[in-house]
Amino acid sequence: MNVRLRDVTDADLPLIERWLCAEHVRRYWGEPEENIRLLRSPTGARLRRALIEADGRKVGLVLWQHPSRQELDAAGLFDVPEDVIDVDIMIGEAADVGRGVGTAAIRMVAEAALADPEVPYVIAATSIDNRASQRAFAKAGFDVDRDFDDVQSGRCVFMTRHRQK
Ligand SMILES: CC(C)(COP(=O)(O)OP(=O)(O)OC[C@H]1O[C@@H](n2cnc3c(N)ncnc32)[C@H](O)[C@@H]1OP(=O)(O)O)[C@@H](O)C(=O)NCCC(=O)NCCS
Repeated sequence: MNVRLRDVTDADLPLIERWLCAEHVRRYWGEPEENIRLLRSPTGARLRRALIEADGRKVGLVLWQHPSRQELDAAGLFDVPEDVIDVDIMIGEAADVGRGVGTAAIRMVAEAALADPEVPYVIAATSIDNRASQRAFAKAGFDVDRDFDDVQSGRCVFMTRHRQK
């Protein structure tokens, strides 16, 4: 499939809201209300997001940002610098899950982030039972670094992708 990332426009927001409510997404992204509120808020300079298109169809959303020191410390990730980039993703269309689109989108974001010499490495945190996510990040060049306790999501796997891959 031909996977492409493009800017999110206001016209995409109702579709993304529908994705946030889909059972397979809310299972790992949490209850949709807060995510919808964040989606509708100004993103600011810190949070970047892109719509994922596969063969010209809108299928998902990828977000990336520098985590704050407070967020990292709350997760016990005291050694992880704020200069890293943290990636979050959803394939919102259930029929498009498991077709390699997530891996391709993660790889694109990671490679773009690592093109910035100020970014030491790229990170992702997935729920310990989210095997599909761990597999997609692994296929995109991420390695498991450790497990940790996330305030919201419980036990999580912390994964990193360094520049040499
Ligand atoms: C996680 C997600 C983004 C991955 O995207 P995707 O396009 O489905 O991923 P891919 O098709 O590239 O790869 C998925 C891999 O996981 C594997 N997989 C799927 N379910 C699995 C399971 N229960 N256990 C182990 N592996 C599993 C697939 O077989 C595939 O690996 P393979 O190519 O070696 O066979 C997508 O499934 C999704 O949006 N899920 C809901 C939201 C979510 O969990 N977001 C991530 C939060 S961190």
